[in-house]
Amino acid sequence: MAILSGQARLAGVIGWPVAHSRSPRLHGFWLNRHSIDGAYLPLPVRPEDFQTAVRGLVAAGFAGANVTIPHKEAAFAVCDTVDPFAHAAGAVNTLVFQDGRITGRNTDGIGFLENLRQHGIDPAAGPALLLGAGGAARAIAAALRALGVAVTLTNRTAERAEALAVALPGCRTIAWDARDAALGDHALIVNTTSLGMTGHGDLMLDLTRAAPTTAISDIVYVPLETPLITDAKTRGLKTAPGLGMLLHQAVPGFTAWFGVTPVVDDALYDFVAGDL
Ligand code: ATR
Repeated sequence: MAILSGQARLAGVIGWPVAHSRSPRLHGFWLNRHSIDGAYLPLPVRPEDFQTAVRGLVAAGFAGANVTIPHKEAAFAVCDTVDPFAHAAGAVNTLVFQDGRITGRNTDGIGFLENLRQHGIDPAAGPALLLGAGGAARAIAAALRALGVAVTLTNRTAERAEALAVALPGCRTIAWDARDAALGDHALIVNTTSLGMTGHGDLMLDLTRAAPTTAISDIVYVPLETPLITDAKTRGLKTAPGLGMLLHQAVPGFTAWFGVTPVVDDALYDFVAGDL
């Protein structure tokens, strides 16, 4: 643990519970690498205390905070201004405090796109098929639409996909049962469901129906390599596993709070993955 000066910059992650969060480890790695006079703390805050806690952090001179489950929607409401991605997602994962004002951002979509690029995948290569319609799907769909990518949504509960398509022009929906048949029509397939996560069910996708140029992305990172990613690799498809999205979504917050733009490299992957 670094020794802090009286001018140390402070940030953290607000969640309930927060003990499982990888963010303190991730930001701690960067603080250490850049010898920054600052700290990034786990901040366990009950839902009913969220507003009070955020106002307290502002009053105490914090530079900002990440926000995780279950506070992302409440964080949207507490902001003075939000960026277009937060607006599209209706949720905020990064708060920046400046001159008593609170700016909210949603960096999940940027993290998703940067992860694809780092794995040699062009997000704008063609239509994308998104499996799932939760908060992560919303942020990812908004980021892809901002690039002009045609997005197909499919979800076990069809109404959630339809509601998302109404909110985001340029998205269409197909039935959950039609997902395999649709694989061949898409350049990018993204799993935003919890299927494939340790302890959850498997995502059964028939990748024999995907074109050889199709790229496969997963937001699940426990295990680090999901059965979907393993299957895609075996077939020679380009892949972007989920941990990279977690690492890349953290970059804008760190930059805003600590004034250094950190890089996502192998050493960071190894450090964060070592804890999973
Ligand atoms: P988040 O907001 O973090 O994305 P979420 O809202 O719980 O999380 O979304 C999880 C996604 O996984 C949803 O799309 C969910 O489908 P439903 O909307 O039908 O619940 C999907 N999901 C979870 N378990 C699933 C399963 N067994 N089969 C198919 N989809 C599943």
